[in-house]
Amino acid sequence: MTDGNGTVALAFSGGLDTTVCVSLLKEEYGYDEVIGVTVDVGQPDYEFEEAEETAEALGVEQYVVDAKEEFADLCLKAVKANADYQGYPLGTALARPVIAKAILSVAEEEGCDGIAHGCTGKGNDQLRFEAIWRDSDLEVIAPVRELGLTREWENEYAREQGLPVEGGDGGRYSIDTNLWSRSIEGSELEDPAEIPSDDIYKWTENPSGKDPELVEITFEDGEPVAVDGDELGSVELVEQLNEQAGAHGIGRTDMMEDRMLGLKVRENYEHPAATVLLTAHEALEGLVLTQEERQFKAQVDQQWSQKAYEGLVDAPLTGALEAFIDDTNERVTGTVTVKMEGGHCRPVSRESEYAVYSESAASFDEEAITGGITQQDATGVAKYHGFQSRLANDILEDVKAGKPAADGGSEADHDSEE
Ligand code: ARG
Repeated sequence: MTDGNGTVALAFSGGLDTTVCVSLLKEEYGYDEVIGVTVDVGQPDYEFEEAEETAEALGVEQYVVDAKEEFADLCLKAVKANADYQGYPLGTALARPVIAKAILSVAEEEGCDGIAHGCTGKGNDQLRFEAIWRDSDLEVIAPVRELGLTREWENEYAREQGLPVEGGDGGRYSIDTNLWSRSIEGSELEDPAEIPSDDIYKWTENPSGKDPELVEITFEDGEPVAVDGDELGSVELVEQLNEQAGAHGIGRTDMMEDRMLGLKVRENYEHPAATVLLTAHEALEGLVLTQEERQFKAQVDQQWSQKAYEGLVDAPLTGALEAFIDDTNERVTGTVTVKMEGGHCRPVSRESEYAVYSESAASFDEEAITGGITQQDATGVAKYHGFQSRLANDILEDVKAGKPAADGGSEADHDSEE
């Protein structure tokens, strides 16, 4: 199990799992040195402060890599794919490959022999990290999984070893926060029947008594670029909308999630900006894409979301799906106004120069359609519409009634026999 003396890079958050891992990587795996790598994908400041304090108390050298912009760009790319897995906009899933790559770079630069994470053997993150790390020559170590640890054991071990972990309620839930979403798992929430207390939410407020608000999102080639006419970089755009929409209580999800290993888990998420942006983007696609493009794209989007959930954003299939997504999204340029109200949002206005829309054709007030087509031309279509279904149902009735087959069948036309 041990590689002997050397250095191991650990994905470090300063939480219980990774704190315990620092000690175990030395005690159980025989590493001389552990370096902690914390990757900034938009966690709140106190998480970095805690990680720094814990690293110091443990005597671990800590590296902090800023990947906020890279991550925010990926989130906006996910908007083009209307990315959603069973109702979850994929915050944790999208962040993992970004984090894994950043840690691997540090590990390689620092000449490490091993690379480790504090994930359990039950979740998705172990798979997302290792999909990237196993492309390197480093020893991949997962102490929590390999040693079969539980949170209870970890707490006990931390106490015995005098490790700096927060006691009491601080570690009650397992929380993962980044720019795109905040996930809350564990404790009493593990019971799908348990109604969560409002205290679990930090980004979304109770919207009662708040006046509705309109927000205009501008898209270029499918990606949001401005809020209410103000052009913003990807990080600022997401941060601003998290605040604005969070104040209306938008973007809470309480769901059962099917993990990659087949386990069902109860998940709670907050994702205000994601909800507004995904709602607006889908509304603009509704204006500019053809019906068949929309139908086909829904399948492409679902596949893209699946690969993103798996953490396989570099898979050849993901790239091929993106070619379709990018191609169709060249026309997803324009603006959408979204109404934020009472914990929900919905599009109330959309505009684009690429709108596949003719007001005169659709209007109740105009006789002409377009290109010389008149209303009367629909008569032939109306005669044919449903023809096959009517025929199938008639035949079924006849067969049930024991009547001989109608014309086209091998037997004589029943009409002529009557
Ligand atoms: N279940 C989600 C996923 O696999 C999020 C997990 C977040 N982790 C946490 N400790 N809250 O993508």
